Amino acid sequence: MNFTGIYEKTILIVKPDGVQRGLVGEVVKRLEMKGMKVVGLKMMYLNEEKLREHYAHHVEKPFYPGLEKFMKSSPVVVICAEGKNAVSAVRLIAGVTDAGKADAGTIRGDLAMGMCNVVHCSDSVETAVAEVKRFFDEAEIFDYSKTEYLHVYMEDERA
Ligand code: PPS
Repeated sequence: MNFTGIYEKTILIVKPDGVQRGLVGEVVKRLEMKGMKVVGLKMMYLNEEKLREHYAHHVEKPFYPGLEKFMKSSPVVVICAEGKNAVSAVRLIAGVTDAGKADAGTIRGDLAMGMCNVVHCSDSVETAVAEVKRFFDEAEIFDYSKTEYLHVYMEDERA
């Protein structure tokens, strides 16, 4: 009963504001309530080198120095979540980047007001693959059966 391998993995980072405001459990709870499987989870500091790699498309943008300072201001919690279409599912749960414009019911819409937006999440399947490698060693990703999947996916959705 192990469906690992046929589902996508995606990355969420509970950002410094989420850690400092005690929202780690709330983020994990929302993933679990949705029916996703947490397959990796750890606290870490992100240094300049890691952040420049992670935000490579943004390093030249005017907001980057502030973003880097913010992301280094506290440890973050990095989560690898797995599920069918996990990347788009997590983007839906997270809401749009500017929390002030995010829908109610989303993490950002419910828990934040602006660009301190609680979580980062992978924006595409390709990015997710790179981000899993960026933040986790192979041994830190857990391949285990989740019996609850029987009640999350219909039989024909599991194949
Ligand atoms: S862009 O320029 O539209 O492509 O940027 P965007 O996709 O909206 O955001 C990319 C990441 O940068 C963060 N960001 C900011 N942080 C702090 N201050 C400001 N002004 C700001 N603008 C964008 C935004 O939260 C995104 O971070 P992640 O970690 O990917 O959610």
